[in-house]
Amino acid sequence: MYLGLDLGTSGLRALLVDEGGAPVASVEAPCTVQHPHPGWSEQDPTEWITACKSAMARLRAEVPEALAALKGIGLSGQMHGATLLDKSDRVLRPCILWNDTRAAAEAAALDGAPDVRALSGNIVFPGFTAPKLLWVEAHEPEIFAQIAKVLLPKDYLRLWLTGAHVSDMSDAAGTSWLDVGARDWSDRLLSASHMRRDQMPRLVEGSETSGRLRAELASDWGVTGPVEVAGGGGDNAAAACGVGCLKEGDGFVSLGTSGVLLAAKDSFAPAPETAVHSFCHAIPGTWYQMGVILAATDCLNWLAGTLGDTPKALAGTMPDTPTGPAPVLFLPYLSGERTPHNDAAMRGAFLGLDIGHDRRTLTQAVMEGVGFALRDNLEALKSTGTDLGAVLAIGGGTGSRFWLESLATILDLPLKLPAQGEFGAALGAARLAMAATGHSVTDIMGAPQVATTIDPRADLTPAYAEAYAKYRALYPSLKAVLT
Ligand code: XUL
Repeated sequence: MYLGLDLGTSGLRALLVDEGGAPVASVEAPCTVQHPHPGWSEQDPTEWITACKSAMARLRAEVPEALAALKGIGLSGQMHGATLLDKSDRVLRPCILWNDTRAAAEAAALDGAPDVRALSGNIVFPGFTAPKLLWVEAHEPEIFAQIAKVLLPKDYLRLWLTGAHVSDMSDAAGTSWLDVGARDWSDRLLSASHMRRDQMPRLVEGSETSGRLRAELASDWGVTGPVEVAGGGGDNAAAACGVGCLKEGDGFVSLGTSGVLLAAKDSFAPAPETAVHSFCHAIPGTWYQMGVILAATDCLNWLAGTLGDTPKALAGTMPDTPTGPAPVLFLPYLSGERTPHNDAAMRGAFLGLDIGHDRRTLTQAVMEGVGFALRDNLEALKSTGTDLGAVLAIGGGTGSRFWLESLATILDLPLKLPAQGEFGAALGAARLAMAATGHSVTDIMGAPQVATTIDPRADLTPAYAEAYAKYRALYPSLKAVLT
């Protein structure tokens, strides 16, 4: 048996799989997020441990025999969070999360510093880890002075599981401290944010072992033999392992809280000027590129909340098949944007509202606006030479057929919809645990069965291309008004 632990922002998911990689049981335990000031987003790391204890107690109650046969654990998690520890591994302050924008000024300063983009391969986005440390140094110097280690969220969970300070390449790539091409911490990048190598965890590949489960936990969970804990991966790298997206040409689009268009790469191909992210993959010798939009289903959630409805009900007002673009345009920058604008200050907009428009028009505009933002991501990836054919479509938004058909048409790409089942980051993490205990990556990291392929609607692509051109023209003109 192998366990995938995916520490997301809203909770922890634990998935147990058998020797053939097939799911046996899964449980979830929630976590809360605090927003003590506008733009701040924090979590108490002790909640991660509480969530893990409760998930494991439930697994032990539900499938004690399967859990007793555990051989490996893989970790996946929300990226970029700064968990600050003192020399006794005590947490110094709440973790500053990936969607926290307080360090925008520090990020811009670091981003402009010599060699930073060249070595890290990325823009220093405000949500990345390094600028958060400059913010702590300036605003909480007494805490900064005590920092002995900085860990990413899943790596704090690993510290509790194994007692070791370790990270994996894919998650470390999102700190702005890693030389992403060389797969090692960079002293130059560390010194740019006044950090040192001894404050960093040891690095392993995602598919290597990072340590063993502590005997006390093994006994609490009723596990009999030794349990290896694999390096694991940042959530997008782990999700890519879960859907077998490993080689050049493989890709997926994710309609989750945030939206992602990811392309696996055989080599390090940085293009920070396009605001595309270039990170190490969780498998040695591989990388990936990705465009990230900060609000995808979050936009529909916001609209539903504002209208006193549920996202499911709003999606249910749409037909299965689009007949052409909405008369209203929506810019989905409700939390600012990463790719392609790198603009934490920008905000969203509806354009072209008429007295006759209703919740259906707004729902369609929101779904299309998210689609246009993902098209911006596709263009950014293409401008680096990355060529994607059909891509897998994953995430909560894929429950809407209308959204999928609109997205396929806007991207002008066929979307492959996986059959029901497990294919997310928790599965990817469990697969990394299998790899770390001797299974071959090619044997275990296959693509999910495709239930259906959604082709672009050739009759509608010209109309959506025209709407996309209007969408693109809006950002520069609205930026002048809104920021
Ligand atoms: C990736 C990113 C998000 C977080 C939270 O760069 O910020 O995907 O990992 O899920």
